[in-house]
Amino acid sequence: MPLTNLNELFKDAYKNGYAIGCFNVDTLKMCQEVLLESEKNHSPVILSFSEGSREFMHPGNIKDLLLNISKDITIPFVLHLDHGRSIESVKSCIDEGFTSVMIDASKYPLEENIRITKEIVEYAHARNVTVEAELGSVEIKDKNESNFYTDPYQAVDFIKKTGIDSLVVSIGTGHGLMKFKENETPTLRLDILRKIDELLPGFPLVLHGSSSIDENALNEFNKYGGTIKKAKGIDVKLINEAVKINVCKVNIGTDFRMAYITGLRKALTENSDKFTPRTFLVEANKKIRECVGYKENFEFFSANRIK
Ligand code: 13P
Repeated sequence: MPLTNLNELFKDAYKNGYAIGCFNVDTLKMCQEVLLESEKNHSPVILSFSEGSREFMHPGNIKDLLLNISKDITIPFVLHLDHGRSIESVKSCIDEGFTSVMIDASKYPLEENIRITKEIVEYAHARNVTVEAELGSVEIKDKNESNFYTDPYQAVDFIKKTGIDSLVVSIGTGHGLMKFKENETPTLRLDILRKIDELLPGFPLVLHGSSSIDENALNEFNKYGGTIKKAKGIDVKLINEAVKINVCKVNIGTDFRMAYITGLRKALTENSDKFTPRTFLVEANKKIRECVGYKENFEFFSANRIK
């Protein structure tokens, strides 16, 4: 069945040194466009719902809706929860049919993070669902804070104690528009990845905050009424360096969302005398397909990995 968890996908990605794109979706139509683009690219893909997006989609039947729209899809895809903040919320996604969940207890002290994560792992694995957790914090804005970067030894201990299937590492990326200060040279702490790989070969890592926010994309966003003044993303070439070591899942929210809104604004601007919703939504959907296609076709990404 194309709807699957991350176990086999991660094994293949690690073995062959590529990463699978994980896109932050908000609507069923977005899911459909991502699936169609990935099918075209012979690429596995991860559809990622935040708790807010899931609420927006009305929890309860997301899996059924996806199964319905994916009848002709042959590539493997994953229904994933991004940043599950509580045990209740993550368990309810598992009950609903999500095939992969992230429990984010990284804001708690280590022992509490371990306890919460372990409880989710036991619940999820009994239902064939894979679990991602976080150590260090990609949400902290100040890289000088002591718990910003993931400690490799702590990470390995955390993985062994919790039984998780993948770990989000904090190595320099961050969510949203400003991943680096204006005068900061973008770098990633690849030494952290190498150390984890040395201590635990074969274990898949996850990179959040992986949008590149290219100048062209930003200019186009602003051209049609956007007002984003500053952005500093992460060059995909740097991400590739991480993928070559042990990063198997790359989270893309900002690029994907900006593409959608750019398409929508462009269509609204150019069709001010029209009012059929699909006239506008077609353009937005086209833009997210371009974004997915662009990412999947980068070297060390997932295009043509499904034969
Ligand atoms: P970006 O903001 O870089 O797209 O990261 C998204 C993300 O990591 C979602 O979990």
